Parts: sequence; C-alpha cells; structure tokens
Amino acid sequence: MKLIAIVGGTKGIGRAVARLLAVRGDRVALLGRDAADLAASAADLAARAPGDPPATAVLDLARPETYDAALDEAIRRLGGLDAVVITAGAFGTQDALEADAAARQRVLSTNFTDTIQFCEVARARLLAGGGGTLCVLGSVAGDRARKPVVLYGATKAGLAYYLQGIDLRHRDAGLRVVLVKPGFVRTGSRETEFGGRTFIDQRLVQVERARRQARELAPRKHARPRDVEDADVPTLDEVANGRGEAWRV
Ligand SMILES: NC(=O)c1ccc[n+]([C@@H]2O[C@H](COP(=O)([O-])OP(=O)(O)OC[C@H]3O[C@@H](n4cnc5c(N)ncnc54)[C@H](OP(=O)(O)O)[C@@H]3O)[C@@H](O)[C@H]2O)c1
Repeated sequence: MKLIAIVGGTKGIGRAVARLLAVRGDRVALLGRDAADLAASAADLAARAPGDPPATAVLDLARPETYDAALDEAIRRLGGLDAVVITAGAFGTQDALEADAAARQRVLSTNFTDTIQFCEVARARLLAGGGGTLCVLGSVAGDRARKPVVLYGATKAGLAYYLQGIDLRHRDAGLRVVLVKPGFVRTGSRETEFGGRTFIDQRLVQVERARRQARELAPRKHARPRDVEDADVPTLDEVANGRGEAWRV
C-alpha cells in the first residue's frame, strides 16, 4: 500500500488514476482547487474502495501560497508520503491560444511555471521524508513541434527538460521521477476544445477513409494501399488502445 497525493484527481486522466490507486488499496489524498469537486471525488473513491474516505485539500497550482498547507494536510491524513502525482494541466489548440492572450497565459503558466513551482516544493517534501516518487503528466506533443499544438507542446517540452534535470540531480538522494507522455485521451478538456468532435477524430477518420478507398481502388486502378498504410498516423484502434502518437502535422 502506497501513500499518494494526486493533483488533478477530480477530472479526466487524474480521476481514472485516482480510482485505480484507490481500488488497488493505496491511500490517496486528492489535491485540487475546487472544494466541491474534491468532496464529490472523495465520495466517488470511497464508494469504490473500502476503508477511510480519501483526504482532500485545496491546492491551486497558480497560487504557491496553497502548496505547503495542502501537502501538510495530505501527509497528516495519509500518515506519510510515498508519491506525488500531478495530472493537473491546461490545454488549448494553437488556433485558440493564438486568438486569446488570457488562455495562452493560462496554458503557459499552468503547464510550465506553476507545475514546476509545485514540483520544487513536492520533491523537497519527498526528499525530506527519505525519498519517493514524483510522477508528472507530460505529452507526446512535447516530443517535437506540431502545427496544431505549438504553444501547448512547448510547455510540455520544457516540463520534460526540467523533469529530466531533477531526476539527474536528485536520483541518488532517493527521488524517483516518472514522466508520463500520453497520446490522445478523450477527456473533458479535449471534448470542449474540439466541440465534442475531436481534432484527432477528424484526422483519423480522414485517414481511415483514405485507407479504405485505397484498398477498394487497388485491384482496378493499381493504387498502392501501402502508401496510405505507411501514413504517420495511428489507426483508430491504436488510439483507442492508448498506443501511438495523437498528432499529425
Ligand atoms: N487528454 C489528452 O488527450 C492528453 C494527452 C496528453 C497529455 N495530457 C496531459 O494529461 C494531463 C491530464 O489531462 P486531462 O485531459 O485528464 O485533463 P482535464 O480532464 O482537463 O483535467 C485537468 C485537471 O487539472 C486540474 N487543474 C487545472 N488547472 C489547475 C490548477 N491551476 N491547479 C490545480 N488543478 C488544476 C483541473 O481541475 P479543475 O477541475 O479545477 O479545473 C482538472 O482536475 C494534463 O497534464 C494534460 O496536458 C492529456
């Protein structure tokens, strides 16, 4: 059984992670900025796993003054701290962020400055307790520049660089850094950004259609299905299974 604080556990990937951890028997503390969301999420976890309901504490990545009190409360309620998981993050397409300076500021700050500020405090707490795991959600969008997500990808690239650095710097002292880089996952933020029909869905549907047409044309027009099969895009099945990259430019 592990003692785990999770930031972002009220929504999307974080909620799924929190449920998995609770069901497998870990003790979980939910840290987030909305007290009502935290209470609802704690009740959801309590209904799925036996034992005490999870601890909750208000933490806003954009408000560093909330960090210490939230971690204090998590450690007090958990009885220690083995791992901090940060799934909190902000997303915007390149089109949306180019058109909206406030949204741009929010994505750049949340995913880079604010997350790193919190990581600095969290890793100090873990090291003070003898070591532990710091697990942070990056993205495949940070691996190389992509036209639809230049700014978002830049935040995740910078975050990855930082995480590699603290892994090198503090590994021997007992800090284990884990960077998770998902491809596309259908969560609330992505549904909203793309109006319920996601960018990747549309691209993949186009590719799937092109593949099918190439197969149909192949016998009589000598089209080459392999040309389409080789496209640098995962199939719908691969994405649904959580494999492959989500973006194509
Ligand atoms: N979904 C994807 O396709 C995908 C792909 C690659 C990487 N990722 C990354 O995976 C992580 C989770 O993504 P998701 O799609 O699950 O996101 P999501 O459904 O939008 O959930 C985001 C979570 O972050 C929290 N959050 C945002 N700003 C915060 C702040 N300032 N302080 C504290 N919490 C804050 C939100 O809390 P509120 O409810 O208070 O807003 C929410 O719980 C993100 O880092 C994302 O960049 C996602």
